[in-house]
Amino acid sequence: MSEIPAPPARYHSAAIALHWLVALLLAYQFALGLRLEDKVAPAQMFLNYQQHKSVGIAILVLSLARLALRLTRSRPAEVGSGLEKLAATWAHRAFYAIMILGPLSGWAIVSTAKVKLPTLLFGAIPLPHLPLGIGAHEPAELAHAVLGWVLPALVLLHVAAVFWHLRQRDPVPGRMFPAGLKAGPGIGAGLTSLAIATWLGLAGPIPNLWAQATVPTATPAAADIVAAVETEAAAPADTEAPQAADTALPTEEAALSCDWSVASGSRLGFTASYAGEPINGSFRDWTAQIKFCEDEPAAGSINASVGLASADTADSSRDENLKGTQFFDIASFPRARFTAKGFKSLGGGRYAADGTLSLRGRNRPVRLTFALKVNGDKATAQGSARINRLAFGVGTDEWAATDQIADAVAINFTIAARRKAP
Ligand code: HEM
Ligand code: HEM
Repeated sequence: MSEIPAPPARYHSAAIALHWLVALLLAYQFALGLRLEDKVAPAQMFLNYQQHKSVGIAILVLSLARLALRLTRSRPAEVGSGLEKLAATWAHRAFYAIMILGPLSGWAIVSTAKVKLPTLLFGAIPLPHLPLGIGAHEPAELAHAVLGWVLPALVLLHVAAVFWHLRQRDPVPGRMFPAGLKAGPGIGAGLTSLAIATWLGLAGPIPNLWAQATVPTATPAAADIVAAVETEAAAPADTEAPQAADTALPTEEAALSCDWSVASGSRLGFTASYAGEPINGSFRDWTAQIKFCEDEPAAGSINASVGLASADTADSSRDENLKGTQFFDIASFPRARFTAKGFKSLGGGRYAADGTLSLRGRNRPVRLTFALKVNGDKATAQGSARINRLAFGVGTDEWAATDQIADAVAINFTIAARRKAP
């Protein structure tokens, strides 16, 4: 006769690890969600959003793993009256709903925003947009806020239940802690770490792990872009799906100009590495003539000019050094130029432009890659390039060595462009 094995005394160690990891991430994430509303510099706002999206998708992935574990592994026996068991079952189901639908609704908000910015999870993994129409935006926002706010209420209820079980002196409180950790100290440690995670989300520092995705220009226009990108629904006038502009009929497209002007809020930045530390800077003086047709990227072109004296790395003595003969030598070479003819589509709204960068009197091939979103007469392009400074002679004498300043320099840009009148 085959015997049904007795349920284990405690949760599987992976389930315990995931319970606490996800609890900490949720506490942080909830607090960070509240911080998204803060009026902060656009650069900071952008980072906060990137962080919220990255942590939120991490919660989604971990919660799916946790659900799989819960469905496949036996767990400790339920304790209490029928009503208590029912309450516990539904409270736990509600937690799973928040852990999975919370991130999905957030993802839907971002995917249906009026202006869509690409998301780089943890500064490295691109998050595609969900194929949803703009009509899903408001329901997603509502669902996200409701799920977000049910979370703290449910946590209070959950913790109250744990204390109630503690008073009952039943085995429930101890079985979600590693073996050897008694329920009392375990609960204390759990609550303390949740409080720290909440504080970190509300007021803690947000590291700039996302250098490639930075938009730090302190202009109101940039703030508008970032806020609109993440939260705004389409204006009532354009209730069409956001892809409408991309899929316009050829006849309509023919009437559209392919010349774009760069709007305020755009940014051209760079990241160099000094003694292993990233140094972020940007140029204040730059212009670009852009020709781009959605239906014929190969016919496009870009012609950009950068005033090298405007390099700003938030350190005036370093900025002065950059102007000198050992670096940009602006007395002889005041501007850098980048020209490219023809864009290549890389698929998924991404493009590459192979062109020539003229810097400090030398011309070298450079490839820009960028993600482009066109929405009627407005477009945002976000991209990057990598150059080797020594190929242009930037850094002579003792600076020609790469032990202090690395040879590779990353260029990053965000361009908000407006279509010129035909
Ligand atoms: C955001 C915070 C939290 C979430 C989302 C959460 C979620 C859950 C879920 C879904 C379960 C069911 C078991 C599973 O499927 O993994 C569970 C069980 C449990 N949780 Fe939490 N929890 C949180 C915080 C806490 C805190 C702060 C404590 C302790 C003070 C705690 C103690 C427990 C205990 C003891 C169990 C086992 C219950 C049983 O054996 O039936 N949890 N939790
Ligand atoms: C379980 C994970 C998540 C939790 C607990 C959470 C929580 C929150 C909270 C509390 C807010 C503020 C809501 C308000 O008061 O209006 C918020 C806003 C927001 N979240 Fe999340 N979030 C999660 C995952 C995500 C993900 C994965 C994304 C995107 C990929 C995302 C995108 C957003 C956006 C765009 C807003 C601003 C929405 C608005 O202003 O209406 N969230 N989140």
